[in-house]
Amino acid sequence: MSQKQKARAHHGDSAAGQEAMRVRTRSPSKTPAVIDQAGGLPANFEPERTRERSSVLAAAIEHAKRMKDWPSLETAVDLQIAEQQAFVGWWDGHVRGGGRPKKVLAARTVSVSDAEKATGVSKGQVHRWRARLDDVDSYRAALRGWIYTKAMSEGTSLLLQQSLSVEHYTPGRYVEAVRAVLGGIDLDPASCKRANRTVRAKTFFDIRADGLKQDWCGRILLNPPYSRQAPLFVDKLMAELKAGNVTAAVVLLSAAATSTQWFQPLWDGLLCFTDHRIAFEGPGDRSSPTIANVFVYLGPDEPAFVREFERFGAVVQRSVRDGGQR
Ligand SMILES: C[S@@+](CC[C@H](N)C(=O)[O-])C[C@H]1O[C@@H](n2cnc3c(N)ncnc32)[C@H](O)[C@@H]1O
Repeated sequence: MSQKQKARAHHGDSAAGQEAMRVRTRSPSKTPAVIDQAGGLPANFEPERTRERSSVLAAAIEHAKRMKDWPSLETAVDLQIAEQQAFVGWWDGHVRGGGRPKKVLAARTVSVSDAEKATGVSKGQVHRWRARLDDVDSYRAALRGWIYTKAMSEGTSLLLQQSLSVEHYTPGRYVEAVRAVLGGIDLDPASCKRANRTVRAKTFFDIRADGLKQDWCGRILLNPPYSRQAPLFVDKLMAELKAGNVTAAVVLLSAAATSTQWFQPLWDGLLCFTDHRIAFEGPGDRSSPTIANVFVYLGPDEPAFVREFERFGAVVQRSVRDGGQR
């Protein structure tokens, strides 16, 4: 992984965008206000650009809805959420009396009025974003709108319906089984800070870092968002395995995916079809998916996968004819 990529990745909960960032106020006096950025934010996050980016994304969302361009709508909504999450995180860490957290932090050196002037975002707006982001699944559904929900519910594919939720985190007992098989989790390429409290991957990529744009290496747990992104994550995993960058992986997917084109290479691994529906964790509605899941192991220690996963369901392998290669 390059230095630049390392800088963009989050290293567990201790992640810190270490760079100091200078933001000039737009006040008539042109007095520069210095705002230090630190603490769990992407290194390239620029709070003074949030207002502009957020309105561009709002326009992109409306355009995608009009065009019924669902992949673009999903992406624009996810980016809007990521932008607002980053801004609220920055605000809470830097602005005195700006809202949560209640305890006084040494880093909160910017006054509300300086922050409002520098960013063009009012305290009231931050309060509204924070309240909506508290239930991110409902907020995502609201941003996508009824027209998207209706289109998805008219589709026959369970995968499409499940794409309504991307924040479904792997519960601890499965993560521990993955850890035992792999001997440790070096990277979770589709995650967030909250999910990584359980996964405890040495490195994780969230939606802002965009795991699809990064290099992957080592031992991987992949539970991709059930959206049109899942095939892209699986394609990338296969490429990184082939290149020898990824040494072993456990992938968690809906069992409905097994007939898709993009799933086919995963049949070369060892599969565990769960005999139950996983109660995923995360914000919002926590109902289990309507169908079971499949774990796929791609790596050198197949006996370890059988040992750790047979308690969750049937472990199967594609049969091979004499002389056939897996
Ligand atoms: C199904 S959840 C799984 C989280 C975690 N890997 C786990 O197993 O608990 C997928 C996560 O990927 C994040 N995500 C969505 N798009 C992403 C992207 N392009 N790059 C990285 N993460 C992304 C979502 O925000 C969500 O937190």
